[in-house]
Amino acid sequence: MIAPSILSADFANLGAEARAVAGPGADRADWLHVDVMDAHFVPNLTLGLPVVESLLKATDIPLDCHLMIEDPGRWAPPYAEAGAHNVTFHAEATDDPIAVARDIRAAGAKAGLSIKPGTPLEPYIEILRDFDTLLIMSVEPGFGGQKFIPEVLAKARAIRRVIDSEDLRLLVEIDGGINADTIEQAAEAGIDCFVAGSAVYGADDPGAAVAALRDQAAAARATAG
Ligand code: DX5
Ligand code: ZN
Repeated sequence: MIAPSILSADFANLGAEARAVAGPGADRADWLHVDVMDAHFVPNLTLGLPVVESLLKATDIPLDCHLMIEDPGRWAPPYAEAGAHNVTFHAEATDDPIAVARDIRAAGAKAGLSIKPGTPLEPYIEILRDFDTLLIMSVEPGFGGQKFIPEVLAKARAIRRVIDSEDLRLLVEIDGGINADTIEQAAEAGIDCFVAGSAVYGADDPGAAVAALRDQAAAARATAG
């Protein structure tokens, strides 16, 4: 799955930018990734619930909301109530990730847990049954266009082993620095869903970039077995 990040899109034309990855066929994004930043959890400020509500009216691509915010227990459920497909918050931002996940699911969305590049996976393995998605950050959250950190792929390989051995139902997503040079190693490590901001919205044809990235990932995953 490919999830273009609108962080690299034109914020004054978000409806058109969503349509640019809405198909037809292989040019269609699987999810649209929406980076919500609060200038506290990360040193950047982007958009919030009103913009997500407008986007939901402008596109039928499922919205993948990535909340890089403090106090997700308070702020995350409204994104689910509004109709986001997936609501992901950061493990580092709460003491009670299970409660936040339950509230997101009760409000009708899939729940995602995200971990920063320096955050270990092990303490969270036990609670992943309460989640639908694990989002592994492959850059420090806050900005698009950064360089991919390949060391995080050890976490992707580790969770893939757990998923296989414990029959866990969990999508593994990666976010940051994904492009034609990096997507294959991520696919080989077992990633299911690839967020790509600058690689999609920096391309002349964003839809064609979605199709090309998906093909590259599928071929690498098939070769890796
Ligand atoms: C970074 C965001 C990413 C960002 C990725 O904090 O979470 O979703 O848009 O941008 P690229 O693909 O350019 O690294
Ligand atoms: Zn993101």
